[in-house]
Amino acid sequence: MERERRARVFSGIQPSGNLHIGNYLGALKNWVAIQDDYENYFCIVDLHALTVPQDPKELRRKIREVAAIYLAAGLDPGRCVIFRQSRVPAHAELCWLLNGIARFGELSRMTQFKDKTRKEGTESASAGLFDYPVLMAADILLYNAQLVPVGDDQRQHLELTRTLARRFNHLYGETFVVPEPMIMKSGARVMALDDPTEKMSKSSPRPGSYISILDEPDAIRRKVRRAVTDSGTEIKASPEKPAITNLLDIYSATTGRPVEEIEDEYRGRGYGQFKQDLAEAIVEVLSPVRERALALLDDPRGLDELLERGAEKAREVSRPILASAQAKMGL
Ligand code: TYM
Repeated sequence: MERERRARVFSGIQPSGNLHIGNYLGALKNWVAIQDDYENYFCIVDLHALTVPQDPKELRRKIREVAAIYLAAGLDPGRCVIFRQSRVPAHAELCWLLNGIARFGELSRMTQFKDKTRKEGTESASAGLFDYPVLMAADILLYNAQLVPVGDDQRQHLELTRTLARRFNHLYGETFVVPEPMIMKSGARVMALDDPTEKMSKSSPRPGSYISILDEPDAIRRKVRRAVTDSGTEIKASPEKPAITNLLDIYSATTGRPVEEIEDEYRGRGYGQFKQDLAEAIVEVLSPVRERALALLDDPRGLDELLERGAEKAREVSRPILASAQAKMGL
């Protein structure tokens, strides 16, 4: 296939908190798997991270950490443009243009905003947190991306992105590609290990709730051992057994084996053996990523240079698309 004719892919991860196995199974792993088939833009969405308070030094460190994890997981800078959102000002500029057509009501209905403001209320939430999905729409539309590989929690944001693209095209003439989400069957919604009714989250204050991509093997084993289970001993996925369903989903996404096959293998066997094998399967996948990431972090200059090369390319590709949107709006 000619490079020019490949469909474009865009996705990103926020450099906040600790990247976890949900980010890996729901997003990163799939990016690596498809990188040969598409023209890829993988962004470190540092502007999105600013929608909640960040320690500047820590943010700087996290940005490099995410870059190292992208590479360690197998993204190849020869085949993917890897860059930081804040180094491409067009993201914030297009966000502002789209703010003119996004509606207050639409943004008020975003479940992520509702979830994130449930505890403290909306009064003290930043305007950025509310506007977050518009910046995300700008990220995607700025590259005319056709496909956006994400976890299930981003489905509603993708739907809004599609709505904004269609609305803009309708109001001002054909400008943006309407993108499609790409969400896998397994691993798209990994739940917290200590509470299977809650999504596994980077910003959780409870380290036992997630497996970090950079966790040491023994920490992974300990966390899996302590993961909550349901009543009964049967290893079978079902709506009444959210904890074991989650562990089976993680096992399936980690190994590529169907859930039914894993259920068959553990029929009549206890949780102990299942958890032990699951932990080893996770260690086998994450340990090499961890080791490579730590080695890459020894060369922060190299990571910075790689991100800057990516940003140059991203600026070049996005410039005419922003210019076209500006011109259509009368700027
Ligand atoms: P973020 O940084 O929260 O998560 C990054 C990616 O990981 C997926 N993910 C999960 N998948 C399965 N189980 C989980 N528990 C889990 N938690 C997170 C997310 O779905 C995502 O794919 N708004 C985005 C970042 C973003 C973006 C974009 C993504 C900004 N602009 C443009 C795609 C395209 C976010 O906060 O993801």
